[in-house]
Amino acid sequence: MHGTYGEDGTIQGFFDLKGISYVGSDLLSSAVGMDKIISKMILKSNEIPVVDFIWFYEKEWYKNKDNFIKKINFPVIIKPANLGSSIGISKAKNLSELTEAIEFAGNFSNKILIEKMIYPLKEINCSVLGDSEKSFTSVLEEPISSGDILSYEDKYFSKGNNNKGITSTKRKIPADIPKEMENKIKNLAKKTFKIFGNSGVVRIDFIIDKKENEVFVNEINTIPGSLSFYLWEATNKKFSELLNNLIEIALKKQREKENLKISYKKNIFNLDPKSLKMGNKN
Ligand SMILES: Nc1ncnc2c1ncn2[C@@H]1O[C@H](COP(=O)(O)OP(=O)(O)O)[C@@H](O)[C@H]1O
Ligand SMILES: [Mg+2]
Repeated sequence: MHGTYGEDGTIQGFFDLKGISYVGSDLLSSAVGMDKIISKMILKSNEIPVVDFIWFYEKEWYKNKDNFIKKINFPVIIKPANLGSSIGISKAKNLSELTEAIEFAGNFSNKILIEKMIYPLKEINCSVLGDSEKSFTSVLEEPISSGDILSYEDKYFSKGNNNKGITSTKRKIPADIPKEMENKIKNLAKKTFKIFGNSGVVRIDFIIDKKENEVFVNEINTIPGSLSFYLWEATNKKFSELLNNLIEIALKKQREKENLKISYKKNIFNLDPKSLKMGNKN
């Protein structure tokens, strides 16, 4: 599953209510990962590098344009807060392009993210497999885009391929980057996975600012295209082994969930208020 209802915590919450175990991230980590703005706020507050940004509700923009324009240094990238596959994303180098881009992004979300445009850039993706206790990183990939924004067409309809999905994107595996940068990215990927509380398999996408040689976490995909199997194959893990791992992690998570107290047997409305004071164990 992908996107709205499948990847944003909705179906995960439904499974929780039903007591059904499932592969992948839970309600909270799925929901947070789906919102690019909330994700960036959480990463920033945990000192994980993210590209400079501002955000607003689309309605605020129409009421208060000048206030936001003051904060913008062109060129910028405009993104709807959710969705993926580059839908609703555009770049702007001046005010008229910005106005158009915000209107366009507003078709997909009521929250708009504006980021500094990184150029020239290198994109690097890393898959992470595991849970909050233990996680592993895959080899890194470098997707190669045909334009300056890796578009929906690049991702799903590369020339010469008949709609093979993400696996048809042009890419270098392993990515051609220095060892030091590779280690830094893998380390950031594991930290990000832990902060969001992901489980199963995710893909974390990075942007390298080639001019400054700085790396930023761009986004997390909690249900990555093709489960990132091609990255795990390149890491010496067969697809069947990856599936086994995913199912084991899901069952472990379900067992852990079943052991947690989610309700309290006593009727708290009948208790003596004094017994509810902090530190009183009755
Ligand atoms: N700050 C940025 N500067 C330059 N290019 C960017 C920036 N953010 C995104 N891009 C380009 O746009 C593409 C899509 O953006 P991304 O945030 O990954 O959205 P999606 O969820 O649609 O994949 C990226 O793969 C990258 O090529
Ligand atoms: Mg992306």
